[in-house]
Parts: sequence; structure tokens; C-alpha cells
Amino acid sequence: MTKLDIGIVGLSVMGRSLALNMADHGFKVGGYNRSASVTDQVMKEHPHQNLIPFHDLGQLIASLSRPRKVMLMIQAGKPVDAVIEQLIPLLGQGDIILDGGNSFYEDTRRRAKMLEEQGIHYLGVGISGGEEGARFGPSIMPGGNRDAYESVRPILKAIAAKAMDEPCCTYIGPEGAGHYVKMVHNGIEYADMQLIAESYLLLKYVGGFSNRELADIFHSWNQGELHSYLIGITADIFREADDLTDGELIDYILDSAKQKGTGRWASIEALKQGVDISMITSACSARIMSNHLEARKKASGLVNAPAFNPVTDKEQFASMVREALYTGKIIAYAQGFSLMQDASEQYGWNLDLGRIASIFRAGCIIQAVFLNDITKAFESGSGDDGKPENLIFDRFFLSRINEHQDSLRKAVSTGVMNGLPIPALCNAISYLDEFRGKAVGANLIQAQRDCFGAHTYERTDREGTFHHEWRKSNDN
Ligand code: 6PG
Repeated sequence: MTKLDIGIVGLSVMGRSLALNMADHGFKVGGYNRSASVTDQVMKEHPHQNLIPFHDLGQLIASLSRPRKVMLMIQAGKPVDAVIEQLIPLLGQGDIILDGGNSFYEDTRRRAKMLEEQGIHYLGVGISGGEEGARFGPSIMPGGNRDAYESVRPILKAIAAKAMDEPCCTYIGPEGAGHYVKMVHNGIEYADMQLIAESYLLLKYVGGFSNRELADIFHSWNQGELHSYLIGITADIFREADDLTDGELIDYILDSAKQKGTGRWASIEALKQGVDISMITSACSARIMSNHLEARKKASGLVNAPAFNPVTDKEQFASMVREALYTGKIIAYAQGFSLMQDASEQYGWNLDLGRIASIFRAGCIIQAVFLNDITKAFESGSGDDGKPENLIFDRFFLSRINEHQDSLRKAVSTGVMNGLPIPALCNAISYLDEFRGKAVGANLIQAQRDCFGAHTYERTDREGTFHHEWRKSNDN
């Protein structure tokens, strides 16, 4: 038998979709799953001349051309370590393991180091796009050993989504850089989804729009600068009839959101690195708060709600919400890209933010026309001094923010005055005002720190570090 190009370990939804995508592109793929019944099921439902099933991991590895390439499409965490343990005795010098799951980047770093010591390369490959993306073209973020990447590049580029004919796959950087970038992608995804959910709350509860009208509004937004995968599916969601009642499904879904952890990781890393990604963090917190259904129910009976003020001009209101959403989106992406910029500097990864934005243009969950503008901002260096240090400094985005920030302010104040929870929008305007404002109140915080703990402070009028004997002249 001719040797196979690549083996896929793990044939649940993402693994099988990716295997079939590779097979469609002419690669000979070996598929293995821990429970053989899953492998048999995949072959029964999706027979493909280029997809060869294996019930034995050793036989899969023996069938691969060298350097042998094995892609893990399994649950992140301990299962990855367990499969690596099984693979080590089967693989040799120069072989390559690719981890296509949502692994934590520090785990990827650790695994890469351990495997490199044994001559085996390890690539942490971020893959976005869900089932459909994996099957027909995801966005792919590979990180790790550069030479190992070159060996798998033809496969990854072939199966990736295409944006303006360019594959949405680029080498991200060494170590865990690929999984790091995927983590930030997911953090941005959380913020983007939260902004859309908050816009929905405003439109539904203050604007009084029905599901039908909401579908039309999101559909029309999807024709313009907000055009994106997430806005598109949102428009469709509002139209979806419920199978069990006469209403629309959206009204019967429990108001409590789950998360698998990537957004939370991004927030934790941002705090560790010292980067403000408050919108992403607020999106995680909003999901956490949504889970406390009983406590929320109790509080709604105890805490007074403000007086409700419905809008009079619905069309104008929807337009204001659209501008607020767009402005919030710019700020969320600015936060996410700042986090990547900082990681690039701290870890010496040399991340190319323009290339990263360009592979987010298609295939992934956050794909949007907006990513063309982000790509341009980082590639053309449209900030005043070359590449923008923060997306907000890019001339194009700056002009959009200046044009629309009033709508963001109005949306936030309308939401707050009507008692609607809109944490991502609130954090968007706070971030902008902290950035833009003349003062953030940190002088008082420094004074307090120096007062209670002699932590010292710096002055505005001279160099150096100072300590003051506070309250000496006070009575108490
Ligand atoms: C993607 C997604 C995907 C993620 C889901 C669910 O890029 O294809 O980010 O990787 O697993 O969106 O994530 P949560 O369960 O954390 O919402």
C-alpha cells in the first residue's frame, strides 16, 4: 500500500470533518479513534477513497510516510498527554505530532519541549470554524518548530478557508504561539458574541422589536460594515421556529450560557501580562453570572428595577445600537490584538499581527469584513508613526470611533437607565475614556498606597520616587 500522508487521531465531529477535508484535497489520510465503533460509524456514514480506517494506533503510524505526521483531534487536557505517551514509542526522529484541539498554550510549550528532547516535533495548531469550517475550510493557526511546519504546510494550506484566494493559514510563531493566538481569537469571539447579545437586549427590551423584526435588523446590518459570520447566524437564529411550540426557538432557550475555558484563559493571561482586555473579561463574567439562575431570580424580586422608558423612534434607536455595536467591536478587537502584541514582545514570538488578522478573514468564527480593515491597519502601518501601537490609533478606526462614540455613549446610558445588563458595552466606553481621558484618578490611588503602606509615588514636576509623611498635621 502507498504510504499515507497524515494520520488523524480522534474522529469525533472536528476530527472527522478535518480528515474528510484533507481527503477531499487528495491527501491520503489514516483515521483512528480510541473506540473503534466511532471509526466504523465514520466510514459507514462518510466512505471516502482517501480515508483509510485503523483500529490500531501502531498500524496507523506504520502506514505513514516519513516524516510521519499525526494530528490529534481530541479533547484538550489530560487526554492529549495520554495519547502522546502512547505515540512516543511508535514515533522516531523528525516525526511530527500536531495538536489541533483548543489546548492551553503553556501545555503546548511543555509538550513541545519534552518531545523535541526526543527528536519529535510538536506543533500546536489552533483551528477555528466549528464543524463546517473543519469540513470545508477552517482558519488555521500553527505554532511550533518552523521546519516541522514546512513539512505540513501543503496539507494545512490546502484545507484552509480562502480569503481573496489566500489560504487562511500562516505560521504563527514558535512554542505555543499558535494555541496562544487561538486562545485570543476565542476571547475576541466571547466579546463579539456578548456585544451582539447586549444589542439584542437593547433592541428587544427598550426598542420593543419582535423576533421577526430583529431578524430583519440583523440581516440588514449584515449587508454593511458589520458583515460577519456571527451577525449572519444571529439574523437566522431569530427566524428559527420552535419544534415544540408555535413560537420561535430563541424564546425557549434557557438564559444561561456555558463556556469551555478559552475566553477565561485569555482573561487570566491578560491579567498576568498586565494588559487590559476588560471587554473579553466582562464577556466571561457575563456568562458566569448567567449561570446563577436561582440567585438572579431571587435578586429580581428584591432589588428594585428602574423606571422603564421605551423609545419613540424605533428606527433611529436601531441605528444608534448598530453604531454602538460597531464601535464596541473595534474596541474589543483592539484589546485582543494588544494582548497578542504584548505576548509577542514578552515571549519573543515576533507575531505578525497583520498576517494574523488576514487569516481571521474567512473560515473562523470571528470572520468579518471588518478583518480586512484590521489587516490593512497592521500591514500598511496607517497609524501616525507606522504600525498602530493600538488599533484605536489607526487612522481608519480612529475616524470610525470619533464618528460613532456618541452612539456608544447613548446606548450605554439607555441600557443603564433602563436597568439592562450591558457589561461589554460599558467596558468599551470605559476603556475608551480611560485611554482618552486627561485623568484616571491614579494619583489618588498612589497617595492612598503611600499613606497606608509607604509604597511611594512619583511626581509630575520632578524625577524620582517620593514618600510623604501623611496625616501628620491631621487630628485623626
Ligand atoms: C472556534 C470556536 C471553538 C470553540 C467554541 C465553543 O473557533 O471554532 O472558538 O473553538 O470551542 O466556540 O467555545 P465555548 O464553549 O468556550 O463557548
